[in-house]
Amino acid sequence: MPDLLIAQRHSAHLDRVVEALRQVHESDGYPMVWPDDPVAWLTPAGWIGAWVALADGVVVGHVMLVAADGVEHIEELAAAARTSVTGLAGVSRLFVTPKARGSRIASALLERVEDTPTRRGRRLVLDVVDDCGPAVRLYERLGWVRVASGPAAWTGPDGVRPRTAAYLCPR
Ligand SMILES: CC(C)(COP(=O)(O)OP(=O)(O)OC[C@H]1O[C@@H](n2cnc3c(N)ncnc32)[C@H](O)[C@@H]1OP(=O)(O)O)[C@@H](O)C(=O)NCCC(=O)NCCS
Repeated sequence: MPDLLIAQRHSAHLDRVVEALRQVHESDGYPMVWPDDPVAWLTPAGWIGAWVALADGVVVGHVMLVAADGVEHIEELAAAARTSVTGLAGVSRLFVTPKARGSRIASALLERVEDTPTRRGRRLVLDVVDDCGPAVRLYERLGWVRVASGPAAWTGPDGVRPRTAAYLCPR
């Protein structure tokens, strides 16, 4: 098992993050539509922080902390957390390359986000396609609390609105 390092993402990592994302898109359809500009997709407006998982220097995972206003079901999340939307921060763009899965890399990335001072006391939230898949199982195993679910505000490549679920971090 190679040495795993969770590090803050730097611009020098971006090409390798895009390559990792391409593998994930090809195997899992995440993201559902391949972005025209993947670097822009990895540096959205309002992003607060980003981390990579490196196994012997190879990017095998990624996660971001973003402003919460774009998270699905945000009003329900704010009500459940008894705070305003600015009291929340979103976990986003979490992925692990197919060959590196099942070794708790995603869990390690989420722990790093939970522990970051950049969070400034904000409660963490996220949305996920509600498909009973590995991501939903991961959040539930880690104790994230399901607050709401319903049709997404966006449509997939087939023109259908998938169901999304919104989760609140337990701490
Ligand atoms: C969701 C995702 C990030 C999980 O990454 P991961 O690093 O494999 O996650 P973990 O290793 O922490 O856990 C995944 C599975 O491995 C299992 N596992 C982890 N460590 C284990 C161990 N030591 N022994 C046995 N099983 C283990 C977990 O129980 C879990 O199993 P389950 O999904 O069948 O319940 C990854 O599947 C992915 O990138 N998916 C595509 C992108 C995506 O959907 N992102 C989420 C967007 S919201």
